Amino acid sequence: MKVLVHIDDAERWQEALAERLPEADIFTSAAPAERRREADYLAAWKPPESLLSEPLALKGIVNLGAGVDALLNNPGLPAGVPIVKLRDAGMAEPIGDYVRYGLLHFQRDFDRYRRQQHVRQWHEHAPVDKADWPVGVLGLGAIGARVAAMIATDGFPVHGWSRSPKSLEGITCHHGDDGLAALLGRVKSLVLLLPDTPATRHIIDAEALARLPEGASLINPGRGTLIDEAALLDALGEGEAEGRLRGALLDAFPAEPLPAASPLWGHPRVWVTPHMAGPTPLGAALDQVAEALRAFAAGEPQATVDPDAGY
Ligand code: GLV
Repeated sequence: MKVLVHIDDAERWQEALAERLPEADIFTSAAPAERRREADYLAAWKPPESLLSEPLALKGIVNLGAGVDALLNNPGLPAGVPIVKLRDAGMAEPIGDYVRYGLLHFQRDFDRYRRQQHVRQWHEHAPVDKADWPVGVLGLGAIGARVAAMIATDGFPVHGWSRSPKSLEGITCHHGDDGLAALLGRVKSLVLLLPDTPATRHIIDAEALARLPEGASLINPGRGTLIDEAALLDALGEGEAEGRLRGALLDAFPAEPLPAASPLWGHPRVWVTPHMAGPTPLGAALDQVAEALRAFAAGEPQATVDPDAGY
């Protein structure tokens, strides 16, 4: 099988993939056009439209990330080619740690203590037990389900939400529009781990934010498009005094890098991180990519992306 690889650092992926698939001919998108045209499979992260628009006769695509939004939104994407994406692949654990950091940040009042430090104020806040800090996790795919389990193990009551019904041990699962409204009404922190699809865009809008209890906090290691930014800023209010929404820890934005002019950068109760929550460990990702390519070549059934659902 011939595999075309496109990602930053493609040579490293090419080499490591060749070790796992010695029978395959693997080359990067820097190869000449005639060679690219021979590819049976494409393994890529955010390939440019120009590459996807080339006359490639692809039998399958492996998305070198968990989110397929960039790929599905690419106008050059050939129709009908099956797509396999990374599932967890070592990303869930660091994302879980990111979420843990955010939860402890608010639950143990680190945001308040930071502000107090600025004015040299020594004042202890009454602690709230983790058992009294319900957390909502929107999105129960490979990553969301694992993150929900991690924080449930930590002792937070966890409410999970997915579009269709799911049942996960130790998690109170909700689904559908009514389930979402019920979940929003009872959580102190809301974690977003949904894919970016037409159905999830701005799922956190003014109405959703208004359903959250006063003083709730938001943690988004998912996708920036899930949030209506104007509604978020409105719910946060201005300045250091806590608004209806206490604070937000944000790792993903509709446009990345987050534009310098974005008011989120300077908001005193917003923490901005540069899409770093879920680094992809090369080893775990490559194992999945090799497995997907082998399954494609052998014609074995495997879970593929549903382009209509968007994930
Ligand atoms: C990263 O955001 C990914 O989708 O893997």
